[in-house]
Amino acid sequence: MASGGGSNFKAIIDRIGEGDLDAQCKFLISNNGNCGAMEHARAYGIPVYHISGKTHPDPAAYESAMLDVLNLYNVDLLILAGYMKALPVCMIQRMPNRILNIHPSLLPKYGGKGFWGIHVHEAVIAAHDTESGATVHLVSEEIDKGRILAQAKVPVLPDDTPEVLAARVLEQEHNLYWKTIKEYAAQL
Ligand code: GAR
Repeated sequence: MASGGGSNFKAIIDRIGEGDLDAQCKFLISNNGNCGAMEHARAYGIPVYHISGKTHPDPAAYESAMLDVLNLYNVDLLILAGYMKALPVCMIQRMPNRILNIHPSLLPKYGGKGFWGIHVHEAVIAAHDTESGATVHLVSEEIDKGRILAQAKVPVLPDDTPEVLAARVLEQEHNLYWKTIKEYAAQL
């Protein structure tokens, strides 16, 4: 599932394509009908589902649209790759310990409500932290509080803007996520 540029989504698909990760991506769900992730998915022939508060204004219809996709494909893992909305609780309960997320900070720092995307990096710089990074964790009902599976660290440099720091963290994310998926899947 993804919402934005989709570089994490693409990085994972590319690792599958290169034979580094023995997996198949069955579908992409996005809340954003015009995002880079959707374009990448279409280019790879991966089925895409646009499910949002706009496409499904009725909350019950929204939830069942998501569950319908899960029921259709019966996947082993659900990977959140830059998905910027909280998942409905019914999804989390449907796949306990089977949903992974990547977050652009060293959780538990800068997690939870309001901390997503560039806002995370703005907060890190405002706090004058000298270190930041990315975290892959299991998704639980409390946002960004699930069990941490792996982290990668980067320095925060004195002249960093949020955008420069975001790019440094993102580079680590691309390397961290597929490896963590591989290690986690091997234990299941
Ligand atoms: C990534 O930095 C990811 O960690 C972050 O959004 C960016 C998506 O980039 N995710 C969150 O903030 C989730 N709370 P991408 O679309 O290029 O993969």
